[in-house]
Formats: sequence, C-alpha cells, structure tokens
Amino acid sequence: MTRSSTRSTRPRLAVFCSGSGTNLQAILDAVRLGHVPATLALVLADTSDAYALTRARRAGIPALAIDRTQYPSREAFERAILSALRAHRIRYIALAGFMRILSPAFVRKYRGRLINIHPALLPAFPGAHAVQDALRAGARRTGVTIHFVDEGVDTGPIIAQRGMPIRPGETAAQVFVRLHRIEHQLYPRALADVLTGRVQWRGGRVVRRADD
Ligand code: GRF
Repeated sequence: MTRSSTRSTRPRLAVFCSGSGTNLQAILDAVRLGHVPATLALVLADTSDAYALTRARRAGIPALAIDRTQYPSREAFERAILSALRAHRIRYIALAGFMRILSPAFVRKYRGRLINIHPALLPAFPGAHAVQDALRAGARRTGVTIHFVDEGVDTGPIIAQRGMPIRPGETAAQVFVRLHRIEHQLYPRALADVLTGRVQWRGGRVVRRADD
C-alpha cells in the first residue's frame, strides 16, 4: 500500500484559539467520536500561553503559537498563518475564541470554509463584549451563533443559532457558564453540517440541503 492511499480523505480542519479552548475541546471530542467528519490537523493560537495549545498537545494534535506581537504588521502575521495552513494542508478553519480580526484578503481565501462562534444572537451584540453588552442593554434573551466569516466583524451568514433567557440578576460569568453549555453542543453540530456539505454558503446566502 502506498503512503498516499493510507491518507485519510476527511477534510483537514484547523481550530484557531486565543484562550482556554473549551470549544476546541468539544470539537476535539466530537471528532474523536466520529460526530464531526474531519481530521483535526492543527490548533493555532496567537499567543503561546493559550491553554488551548495544551489541550491540543495532550490529544496529539499539532499545536502552533504564532504570536502576533512578534510580527511587524497584520500582513506579516497572516503570511505566517497562511504558510502554516499550507504546510498542514488545511481546508477548513473554525475560529473558537480567536481574538484577532482577520483581514478581508485572508477571509476571501477561505470563504465558505471559515467559521466562527459568537456568544450572542447575531446580528444583536457583535464584538468582543457580547455578553456584557447584552446585560448592559437589559436584554431578556441572548444565545449563541455559528456563522461563516465574511469581511465584516461578526456579520457573516448564519449557520446555526440557539437562544436562552437571561435570568434576573444574573452576572456575565453566570450567563457565560450557560452559554458555554450551548456552544459545546452547537459548534460541533454546525461544523458537521458544513463539512458534509449539508450547509453551504452559495450566492451570498446559506443554503441547506433539501433532505434535512
Ligand atoms: C466563546 O464564548 C466563544 O463564543 C467566543 O470566545 C469564547 C471562547 O471560549 N468567541 P473557549 O476558549 O472556547 O472556552
């Protein structure tokens, strides 16, 4: 048997993180159980102290820190990322708490294959402080959105959403705990939908296969 014939044909997925990586863990577990038909081929962080890197290494997955502060510009930083993606033959990228905004040029290269998770019901409360913003606004509901990434910030077409009530007097930390439970279920499922082609971004909108 040749080496190439032993290679998995499952799409190669990278997960980008900046922090703890509980969503990475959920994806990792789902891949291992066969619920997400991908090879988790790379975990990339923009800082070497992201705990997500430890999770990846423990699971035997290539883990790479590309520290933004070591590059003179976003272009140089993204060139380094793209070269890692080429080296690991990455087809799909899942952003999971990655705290950098990727340039329009980068986003266009992975259009339809670059996915993000956001802790609010977009288009409400985009940006880095979604839960705090929802509480400050007095919102009675919030939730989780999985979406394709476009050139804007948290604006791309929506793949999946699930809402939950905000209880009176709840703190941001308490809301986050409950949001995370939703995230850990929703993200692997949404990724499976994209990776199997059940959900695609075509002609500027999300298309779901009719048999679902
Ligand atoms: C999640 O709440 C996600 O919605 C947001 O960043 C957080 C990452 O959490 N984009 P974790 O590192 O996966 O625990």
